[in-house]
Amino acid sequence: MSVFLFFLFLFLLPLISIFLNVFKRPKWKLPPGPKKLPIIGNLHQRGKLHPRNRRNISEMYGPVVHLQYGFIPVVVVSSKEAAEEVLKINDLECCTRPEAAGMRATFYNFKDIGMAPFGDEWSLMRKLSVVELFSVKKLQSFKYIRDEENDLFVKKISEFATRRSPVNLERAVFTLVGNTICRIGYGINLYECEFFDEESVVDLVLKAEAVIRETVFSDFFPGRIGRLVDRISGQNKRLNNKFSEVDTFFQNILDEHLKPGRESSDIIDMMIDMKKKQEKDGDSLKFTTEHLKGMISDIFVAGIGGVAGITLWGMTELIRNPRVMKKVQDEIRTTLGDKKERIKEEDLNQLHYFKLMVKEILRLHPTTPLLLPREASSHFKVQGYDIPAKTQILVNLYAMGRDPKLWENADEFNPDRFLDSSIDYKGKNYELLPFGSGRRICPGMAMGTMLVELALLNLLYFFDWGLPEKDEAKKIVTRDGEETFLAYFQVLHH
Ligand code: HEM
Repeated sequence: MSVFLFFLFLFLLPLISIFLNVFKRPKWKLPPGPKKLPIIGNLHQRGKLHPRNRRNISEMYGPVVHLQYGFIPVVVVSSKEAAEEVLKINDLECCTRPEAAGMRATFYNFKDIGMAPFGDEWSLMRKLSVVELFSVKKLQSFKYIRDEENDLFVKKISEFATRRSPVNLERAVFTLVGNTICRIGYGINLYECEFFDEESVVDLVLKAEAVIRETVFSDFFPGRIGRLVDRISGQNKRLNNKFSEVDTFFQNILDEHLKPGRESSDIIDMMIDMKKKQEKDGDSLKFTTEHLKGMISDIFVAGIGGVAGITLWGMTELIRNPRVMKKVQDEIRTTLGDKKERIKEEDLNQLHYFKLMVKEILRLHPTTPLLLPREASSHFKVQGYDIPAKTQILVNLYAMGRDPKLWENADEFNPDRFLDSSIDYKGKNYELLPFGSGRRICPGMAMGTMLVELALLNLLYFFDWGLPEKDEAKKIVTRDGEETFLAYFQVLHH
């Protein structure tokens, strides 16, 4: 009998929903958007609505678009004015993050900085990271690590050049960035590490990113029934299995920090000391193993993928645009001369066009094309539309970076556009927000840009570049349905 009732309920559910939708008086003036089906809303169109295509939805419905993914209302914002209303005027109302299973697994129940709900724990972790990892003083103190890693990087590429073999630049850049960030963040040198092969950084980052993208039933139908479906269908188990290799790596990093007699004092050591003190003092806020692994995960996942991706997109765009490549290399070589044996960080300060080129990469290839999702903690308005509490908010950096109303020849890679422009990427110009803005702006911005600039400067000063196969430059490479950078390059001259 109960099975019969269950199926009857399932059958009637769409009818009940249509009935409610027809007779429900709209309380809010919601933004426009594509037609929604009963119960699933726009879920069936989710594939079509990925960043590149979201440009089309903003062309069709305007700069603020309302979608419904199952029970989750989503608003996609894609104009400079709307982004400013969200991230500046209403920053406080939308500086918490929504929950999703992939994020929950990767960031240890949201006990990290990036996906933690807005509140005391997030604030404490963020402040700690600003002091122990991202401050100007700390950034300066890690200079020797960046120097050593970039020297090694140049040496490795020179070996490829001598052998005249193609360079897997994707692997080389991920290894450079991965080892630099692991040394800075956890004091672990992957070249000397027993539990990890440094060449596997790219594979591990891709695995973590795949878990983040994974969705389960309860992401769209939260609550007890959603969770039950996840469990019965084995989706949660599958997700955790996928994450297990990444988790093992993070656990190994933590175990290294828990070994007795350790002398180093990085941010993870600081947290372990704080955890002991909190336990002794009986503080209401206590760090757990999840907080420690959440911080480890943030540094690895948020740090490595973004920096490596931007560097590789830079090389891809330069290979596809020989005029810009020549202009940048001319500036670098004229300014720095041709006798340098190694690049110094101070060299960056002398380069103007080079920095505009980095800005142009960030405009066209934001690492998070829809920013990290925000969630409205209370009702507010954007462009006159109501945004009810619990609405998920996506800021479409991809569409804004390529909006023909904001940029001339928007799809063209041309750093010259910034020659007479004061637009910057530091969170105050709302048409260019590769690091976000407001309270949740990326705390790793200075470290991230420094690592991108150093890698690119070394690649462009010491080597001339081509591709292993003729005409490959125009080839569109995709990964998981999205366009990605070229991986293999050829040194023509060094
Ligand atoms: C060039 C490289 C990078 C880019 C483009 C980038 C971009 C971003 C973006 C767009 C956000 C979301 C901001 C928002 O919601 O408004 C973010 C947040 C974050 N990033 Fe970065 N990031 C980069 C490098 C790094 C590095 C090197 C680290 C650490 C080692 C890092 C750690 C974080 C953390 C912890 C957050 C979460 C902040 C919060 O929610 O309070 N990022 N990043």
